Amino acid sequence: MVKILSNKSLKSYNTFGLDVSARYLAEVHSVDDMRKLIQSPEYKLGNPLFLGGGSNVLLTKDVEGLVIRNLLKGISIVSEDANNVFVKAASGEVWHEFVLFCIEKGWAGVENLSLIPGSVGAGPMQNIGAYGVELKDVFHELEALNLDTLELEVFSKDQCKFGYRESVFKHELKNKYFISSVTFKLSVNATVNTCYGAIKQQLDLMHVENPGIKEVSDAVIAIRSSKLPNPKVLGNAGSFFKNPEVDASFFSELKSANPTIVGYPLDNGQVKLAAGWLIEQCGWKGKVVGNCGSHKDQALVLVNYGGATGSEVYALALAIKSSVFEKFGVEINPEVNVI
Ligand code: EPU
Repeated sequence: MVKILSNKSLKSYNTFGLDVSARYLAEVHSVDDMRKLIQSPEYKLGNPLFLGGGSNVLLTKDVEGLVIRNLLKGISIVSEDANNVFVKAASGEVWHEFVLFCIEKGWAGVENLSLIPGSVGAGPMQNIGAYGVELKDVFHELEALNLDTLELEVFSKDQCKFGYRESVFKHELKNKYFISSVTFKLSVNATVNTCYGAIKQQLDLMHVENPGIKEVSDAVIAIRSSKLPNPKVLGNAGSFFKNPEVDASFFSELKSANPTIVGYPLDNGQVKLAAGWLIEQCGWKGKVVGNCGSHKDQALVLVNYGGATGSEVYALALAIKSSVFEKFGVEINPEVNVI
């Protein structure tokens, strides 16, 4: 039977470092553990909360039900051919450790996603992305436990309905599946993706002319470390908001009023705005409010300076959201899950 603990602090299980407690807490190491746990009265109380790395969650209150920590581990090759290797990773693997493992083996595709906090299972949930690459670009399929039937099901890329920080698991299938493993299609003939400006600049700084996957990973690690706070030092959950998308015509209006605004045209005719820029223009960058604030090097990242409560961070987020709307008429919405 899976051990279920009562009244446990979740402080070390969420990267914001918020000290809320879970009425019940259990750790699962396998799909069978999950199947057993689902039969327990604590699970049947309803509203279980699944925690991977706890890096994309803002806990605003104590959790009344069961919190489930995903500790499923294991990485294996499913198949390989002259160009690709299909690698299956258990959902509880730490994402960055998985990336480093792939780099060590010479498997290309995930190096631009180095140092993203969180677990492998959270990757497809919100289609993690950084520096010109999204998880969907290297995704093959995943296995997930249907929480009603207790059967494992396979999801193809199409079935996951990936979008910008989106998947079917955040919408139609929310709380219906437990992702147990993800299979990636990686390349054995490394061609690196250095289209994101900051990577090129960083590689130049490092005097690297013909980068391989290790060099790209090192460059990404250097960029992230220079402007994103390390959650082990300063509690945070990465970008708090998603970058908003607006119509091209509205973007032109914004651009004439604000010539330095940062926007990237998308294939669908919309323009994606840099929320960090919008927030900085509203004067929030580096501002400390009580025990939390917007980070001094990346306004999009909200941080816990120590002792903040989740509701304090959420109040700050709402204040930022309204001031961005007042100044620019643009709605920004959280990327993190607010519980
Ligand atoms: N900017 C500002 N002020 C700021 C922050 C950013 O003016 O305080 C401007 C920058 O100068 C730049 C633009 O905004 O021109 C974009 O900034 P950056 O390259 O840092 O990327 P981002 O759009 O803020 C996104 C992801 C990050 C990812 C980076 C790099 C989202 C919500 N965030 O941030 O992902 O690492 O691109 O690809 O899409 C995360 O999701 O948690 C995350 C960290």
